[in-house]
Amino acid sequence: MNLPKFEFVTSIEATKSPALLLGWYQTPAQDKESSPVPLYKGKRSKEIDDLAGKIKNAKSFLGKKNEISFLRFFSFAGYSNVFLLGLGDPKKCNMEVIRQGGAALCHVQKREKIAKVAIQTDSVFAGVRPSEINTAVQAFCEGYLLAGYEYKDLKKPEVNPFVHEGLVFLGMKSAALIKAAERASALAGAVNFARSLGDRPGNVLTPTEFSRLVEKMSKERGIKCTILGRKEMEKEKMGLLLGVAQGSAEEPKLIILEHMKGKKSEKPVALVGKGLTFDSGGISLKPADRMEEMKYDMMGAATVAGVFQALADLKISRNVVGVIAATENMPGGRAQKPGDVQKSMSGKTVEIINTDAEGRLILADAMEYVQKYFQPQAMADFATLTGAVVVALGTVTTGIMGNSSALIEDVKKFSKVTDERVWELPLYEEYEEDLKSATADIRNSGNREAGSSKAGTFLKFFVNSNLPWVHFDIAGSAWHRKDINYHPTKGASGAMVRLVTHWMENWRQPK
Ligand code: BES
Ligand code: MN
Ligand code: ZN
Repeated sequence: MNLPKFEFVTSIEATKSPALLLGWYQTPAQDKESSPVPLYKGKRSKEIDDLAGKIKNAKSFLGKKNEISFLRFFSFAGYSNVFLLGLGDPKKCNMEVIRQGGAALCHVQKREKIAKVAIQTDSVFAGVRPSEINTAVQAFCEGYLLAGYEYKDLKKPEVNPFVHEGLVFLGMKSAALIKAAERASALAGAVNFARSLGDRPGNVLTPTEFSRLVEKMSKERGIKCTILGRKEMEKEKMGLLLGVAQGSAEEPKLIILEHMKGKKSEKPVALVGKGLTFDSGGISLKPADRMEEMKYDMMGAATVAGVFQALADLKISRNVVGVIAATENMPGGRAQKPGDVQKSMSGKTVEIINTDAEGRLILADAMEYVQKYFQPQAMADFATLTGAVVVALGTVTTGIMGNSSALIEDVKKFSKVTDERVWELPLYEEYEEDLKSATADIRNSGNREAGSSKAGTFLKFFVNSNLPWVHFDIAGSAWHRKDINYHPTKGASGAMVRLVTHWMENWRQPK
């Protein structure tokens, strides 16, 4: 696949690009009667003044955030086509506004079939503080590349597919800007890799295929990748992961990734991912309605895979170990049944109340594996774990919870940097009562109350008590996002990949 190119040129003269992008902010309405007016904040010229006058009179383009107008065959400053991009109130301009601006341009370019666009940077970035210009260019390129993602592997190839050639940033050039664009490419590449794993249907992305693709990505980048199959899991006594897998004809895989680019003396940070390549619910079968969405039940694992791609591509000097537990949850003749008791790798026994509460089971063994063999300094897990988190928070944010306020504070802080929302849910001790079992050490499901916190409480039971840990429930945020224009409305979002990469890059030892 040819990725769009980003060029920086010092001149502001017309380039060979067929189109020019002008950014427009907005003067907020002064009172209820008046409407907001588009505001050009770049360098003025006679041509701009004429255009601004026309736009004002027409009242069809207001400069609202993400608003785009396309003027075809409109001769202007040496270009023959012009895009107008709205960026809203300049006082409210932030990196997310800029990121979504990049996405808006990407979408309309495709619609209008304009392969290359020159960016009038003094107008687009007029709302950005000079100290933030590199970050803003990164955000714009990120939005652009994220919006350009499409999963087309299984469709008949188009005869003349549209290709985004790229963008030319006018009047700015520096090593830092080139680096900003490269960072954007690495981050968007990692997010798009995670998305592409999620968008593959369950019959294509089996646990074996998942491990093959992650191994390929790792080999290309020098990441150490070890894959365990059923036999090795039996040796490790991973009774919970094997218990979930036993109803499926597909072999489960445990994928271990090692990016050890930090100090030798530094213990690694562990990232653990739930990788249900399909979750039918098992014997506690899910209803048919929207069951097809359960092909995305591996997005926690995809998040981990995406982060590793970014860690390597950005050459981040930290020690990070990833563990992906990949399996299907199927109601086969050998499937585990409600009432069964399984023994975890840690030795703790679990009564299976509901075979559809399988994510927490495989995560418990994956977390035990990484704690036993890597002695991490901290651990985070990623999982499409509960329908309850979708009910509580919707798709617009990720539920987080854990045992370390220092770690949670860091996640919240970096969430603001990459504009990927998180919302903390509690892990009160009272939730433990409902997970008590008459026959085993714990049961995998309780009553309907506080479903997401109860799932977190189950995981906490398998986390060493002195180990700082955060759980990310991405069941809402991982797919079909209609709230952000650089996410596909139908498909995986890759939520948390950018946040976690940034978190690892700026890692500080939790107190
Ligand atoms: N993968 C699901 C959670 C899920 C549901 C994610 C809907 C996204 C959308 C998980 O394995 C599951 O089935 N959880 C159960 C737990 C319950 C049985 C305690 C749930 O949320 O209903
Ligand atoms: Mn389930
Ligand atoms: Zn699941």
